Amino acid sequence: MAACLSSQVLDDLVARENFEYAGVSDKIKILVGPAAETLQTLPSEEKFDLAFIDADKASNLTYYLQAKRVVKRGGVIIVDNVVRNGTVANPDIDDENVRGVRNLLQHIKNDKEVDATTIGTVSEKGYDGFLYSLYL
Ligand SMILES: C[S@@+](CC[C@H](N)C(=O)[O-])C[C@H]1O[C@@H](n2cnc3c(N)ncnc32)[C@H](O)[C@@H]1O
Repeated sequence: MAACLSSQVLDDLVARENFEYAGVSDKIKILVGPAAETLQTLPSEEKFDLAFIDADKASNLTYYLQAKRVVKRGGVIIVDNVVRNGTVANPDIDDENVRGVRNLLQHIKNDKEVDATTIGTVSEKGYDGFLYSLYL
């Protein structure tokens, strides 16, 4: 079972088409709406192996805490775009996306229930990275 959370109906249509094309529609539930709300509707008993977080960065920590609620022990939580061309480590930069990543990293630093690392990525958009955390 997989859940796909999206804020827009267009995303929903594109996702639905892709899942149909891949032949996995019957395994995926699409929830449309603000993820901070839709995530709360996922029952805690429905434990997932993996969560991939890649929505509005300001809400990273909210999504991470919700992901921990629905991911099983031994599962993985991935958060995309946590390097942001080095802006996260640059004290002169302070926008809501950067703050969203820093809040998450501060939280994870003290979270003894996860082991986490960041894996760097490079693309035509510059350099970035995703956080890979294992829920112990
Ligand atoms: C960077 S895209 C990532 C899409 C997908 N992970 C991919 O790689 O193709 C960000 C997505 O998050 C969705 N999004 C942004 N804010 C959201 C929110 N508050 N709740 C739910 N989805 C949101 C956007 O609609 C968009 O589809």
